[in-house]
Amino acid sequence: MKFEFYNPTRLIFAAGALARLGEVTREQGKRALLVTGGGSVKKNGVFDRAVASLNAAGISFVECAGVEPNPRITSVVRGAERARAEGCDVVIALGGGSTMDAAKVMAAAVFYDGDPWDMIYHGQPAPHVPVRSLPIITVPTLAATGSEMNDGAVITNAKTIVKSFVSAECLYPRVALVDPELTLSVPKQQTAFGVCDLITHVTEGYFNGVDGTPLQDRFAEGTVITAMEWGPRAVANGADLEARAQVQWASVVALNGWVQVGVNAAFPVHMIEHVLSAHHDVAHGAGLAVVNPAWMRFAARDRPARFAQFAERIWGVPATFGNEAARAREGIDRFESFLRGLGCPTRLAELGIGESQLQRYAEDALHVAHDRQGRLPGRPSLSKDEIVEVLRAAL
Ligand code: NZQ
Ligand code: ZN
Repeated sequence: MKFEFYNPTRLIFAAGALARLGEVTREQGKRALLVTGGGSVKKNGVFDRAVASLNAAGISFVECAGVEPNPRITSVVRGAERARAEGCDVVIALGGGSTMDAAKVMAAAVFYDGDPWDMIYHGQPAPHVPVRSLPIITVPTLAATGSEMNDGAVITNAKTIVKSFVSAECLYPRVALVDPELTLSVPKQQTAFGVCDLITHVTEGYFNGVDGTPLQDRFAEGTVITAMEWGPRAVANGADLEARAQVQWASVVALNGWVQVGVNAAFPVHMIEHVLSAHHDVAHGAGLAVVNPAWMRFAARDRPARFAQFAERIWGVPATFGNEAARAREGIDRFESFLRGLGCPTRLAELGIGESQLQRYAEDALHVAHDRQGRLPGRPSLSKDEIVEVLRAAL
């Protein structure tokens, strides 16, 4: 047991918390860059309520609208230029993970004269890891990524078809204003994808981490079980605020670092999925629903006991059910059925992805993340052929 933990983001979690946006922004700056996505916040009235709160607190703002799902580096450039030109001293992200990620990198790009893509890890450490940013306030409208309370961002370069990440201390938001009411309008499918995403954040650590982390195992299991209990309710009835709140809290916890403390895990399923969303612009959570069960079946061959534990503790597979390998398979089958029941795709074909480019996807995943042997980090680490095998099993 040897680790450090640090997360400086102040979390405010409450239905109705949006009304406090002006008050919390005033503590960070006077003129905000207000970053939004493709327009959902305009349709559902959230934008107007945010603006009313800012106005009441005397905060002026300029808008950077139109951040796309799987946010592009071009949007980051556009937002950073606007923030600089308008003299903004604080950045507010009002939207899903894509809007929050783009806003975080904009806040750092304001202080970097080079190409902001230099900040994104691609194959080797980024040429410029950011050390400074404008203060960031995140207001998530979708429960999924946990970006509101972590130091990461995932950005796509559409020209080179690379989707990769940056993580840096200056990207921790100063404040995460988490108001589950803002998620009431998230459509069924997107809600399901969010549940899948949060579950995958903890399964990555659970299956790829070091041995001997019993408390972290329980945190991870508790997070998945909570998502299993409340996720279907949020999907079935989007207006169920209690379900929305439980799912959103689970999504924050799943990737604010706490569950992963000391686990030292790689994220192979994410690395593979990011390639799919880079090439095909699929929703991240949908891609994960396809890749994760296929990856699990591959990885379970190496570590059946771990997957049997997952089956028994989470999916209720009895300890008397077959041998370890059979229990492992049964747990993964039940997990996959759960995802399907939520409304997630579980085959590549459902994402419109065929077998013609599997080699390319594997190469691209390895381009973004590889160990000294050129393999994708994880337990087990994967060669190019093995990534292809995982993807082929998901066709
Ligand atoms: O763009 P708008 O119009 O706002 O619509 C969005 C978008 O179409 C819509 N939406 C969001 N809130 C809504 C809503 N629709 C109705 N009502 C609301 N309240 O949902 C769609 C998807 O939004 P997006 O932000 O793309 O989804 P998500 O939150 O799943 O973010 C996905 C992105 O985050 C990255 C993913 O790779 C992907 O690029 N990730 C970021 C991570 C991080 N920073 O820690 C970790 C994750 O593993 C992930 O990789
Ligand atoms: Zn994710």
